[in-house]
Amino acid sequence: MATVISASLLSCDFSELGREINRAEQAGCDWIHFDVMDGVFVPNISFGEPLLKYVRKCAKGFVDTHLMITRPERYIEHYAKAGSDMITFHVEATDNPRAVVDKIHSLGKKAGIAVKPDTPVDDIESLIPAVENVLIMTVYPGFGGQSFIPATLKKVTEAREFIERIGLNTHVQVDGGINDQTAVLARAAGADVLVSGSYLFSAQNMAGAVYSLRDNDI
Ligand code: DX5
Ligand code: ZN
Repeated sequence: MATVISASLLSCDFSELGREINRAEQAGCDWIHFDVMDGVFVPNISFGEPLLKYVRKCAKGFVDTHLMITRPERYIEHYAKAGSDMITFHVEATDNPRAVVDKIHSLGKKAGIAVKPDTPVDDIESLIPAVENVLIMTVYPGFGGQSFIPATLKKVTEAREFIERIGLNTHVQVDGGINDQTAVLARAAGADVLVSGSYLFSAQNMAGAVYSLRDNDI
């Protein structure tokens, strides 16, 4: 299983946004990860649709939007039209996650379902067959630069085993505290998409940092 590296822009230098996106793509990042926070679902506000349009203009590859907002159903169309290739939302944020998945698909985009560290995989099992991406948060969402929570690895394995048991090829994504050390643990647990922000953007040699997140034995 090839590992996908997704660069979280939350930790980039916004005074050089276009260049930072190019730097990440040239360093070998497969996807650009765009974190939307509303100050309600998580205790922080980040950025939204107008910036996503600019990111879409600058990025050559896949744009992976992570919605950390309450009632994401209100904004799916906005974030689809602004240029997301995939939209991942939190199961804890909506009363009807299946309708949100269907809405994302009806707009021609890939859909992902995310869980916070305390939400069990059981809560999303019925949705997994309907999505392309399962995001297991490895920190409490809201901020870049936090430490990876090892107890979340069990859920990565549960999600991967469930997906294999029913023969799907859904991505299992991890987000939060991913660096060269924790990437090894996340990959061994079954993750194939690694989101990384502060580790990648603080690297002097980003290509080297991207390389260090991949499984280099194959
Ligand atoms: C956290 C965000 C992450 C964040 C990751 O709520 O969803 O995408 O940017 O940052 P690092 O890699 O620094 O933990
Ligand atoms: Zn994220």
